[in-house]
Amino acid sequence: MKRRKIGIIGCGNISGIYFKNLINTFQNTEVVACADLVAERAEAKAEEFGVSACSVEELLQNPEIEIVVNLTTPQAHYEVCNDVLSAGKHVYVEKPLCLTREDGKKLLQKAKEKNLLIGSAPDTFLGAGIQTCRKLIDDGWIGEPVAATAFMTCHGHESWHPDPEFYYQVGGGPMFDMGPYYLTALVNLIGPVEKVSGFTNITFPTRTITSEKKYGKIVDVEVPTHITGLLEFKNGAIGTIITSFDVWGAQLPRIEIYGSEGTISVPDPNTFGGPVHIMRKNHKEFSPIPLSHPYAENSRGLGVSDMVRALNTGKKNRANAELSYHVLDIMHGFHDSANTGRHILLESTCDKPEAMPDELL
Ligand SMILES: NC(=O)c1ccc[n+]([C@@H]2O[C@H](COP(=O)([O-])OP(=O)(O)OC[C@H]3O[C@@H](n4cnc5c(N)ncnc54)[C@H](O)[C@@H]3O)[C@@H](O)[C@H]2O)c1
Repeated sequence: MKRRKIGIIGCGNISGIYFKNLINTFQNTEVVACADLVAERAEAKAEEFGVSACSVEELLQNPEIEIVVNLTTPQAHYEVCNDVLSAGKHVYVEKPLCLTREDGKKLLQKAKEKNLLIGSAPDTFLGAGIQTCRKLIDDGWIGEPVAATAFMTCHGHESWHPDPEFYYQVGGGPMFDMGPYYLTALVNLIGPVEKVSGFTNITFPTRTITSEKKYGKIVDVEVPTHITGLLEFKNGAIGTIITSFDVWGAQLPRIEIYGSEGTISVPDPNTFGGPVHIMRKNHKEFSPIPLSHPYAENSRGLGVSDMVRALNTGKKNRANAELSYHVLDIMHGFHDSANTGRHILLESTCDKPEAMPDELL
């Protein structure tokens, strides 16, 4: 098995788990260098994980690095991905792919022209929980999927994230922040979406940071913080999604898939594990289903490992550019619908990613 050498750009909050997994968990990845606009952050991670720290420019020019993992904030995703592709390297980016459809299209086009791969988070749908749900659906346990619900409600991230401003700027908000987990899971389980509509609100025009470093700082809210969306899937199923930073408490499920023969309760798509429950027709209660696939622990970076598998075998990477562009298009569709009062017919589509094997990659 060929290990591919990886450089990480963006050494902030989420980067630790990527370093850990790309170094220790996966057999086909090797991290050699890292960089950050704030040099001390890269130096700290380099020391912790035994790799070298360098500038972004040096990392892009390092000939031994084949794949760059872009863990910068959403506002920098396009620019950094574009620079990585220009440097002739494959790129895997945290979600969302980028901020606008225009930039997304440019990235896809550039990767195609240069024969490079783009991968994008989330990769949680490759984990044990959602792959178990996928197998149940593929094996016909709930018949034809006819509808779905997906709910992510909380009160935002300013109470814990040290630099939460980006959650309230363009590219943030609960849909662009958390929607990718829920929508990627739905596309993986049901297939691509054809039409969407949405309603949005900014309930609180400012937020007060209460995490330690910036305690008391007031942030203006630039983007909707409560979004209700409707989805019509290509196969005719219809879905409802709510993503919100405005809700103090709720008792909603995360995701449920309703089929002609039963219902699957899907685990939190921001995790890799279970629990998975099913209720088939004529039964009165949900039953737990044992997980059929590996990667139940926090396996962030699994999409990068799958990308290496794709490079080594010539097959398609599962957390791929078409999928993440389709999810970006859906998220914009909700906001466009809310702004125009119309349904939005999506231009993009994608294939349902191939199911994962029931063994390690
Ligand atoms: N924090 C989480 O729990 C979490 C979970 C899953 C995904 N994510 C996603 O991961 C990404 C990063 O989130 P985070 O919480 O780690 O943010 P963060 O602000 O903690 O870290 C981002 C880092 O990127 C660096 N950076 C920004 N622009 C850069 C550029 N142009 N070149 C080089 N470095 C640059 C910053 O200096 C910072 O160190 C986001 O896309 C977010 O949506 C975060």
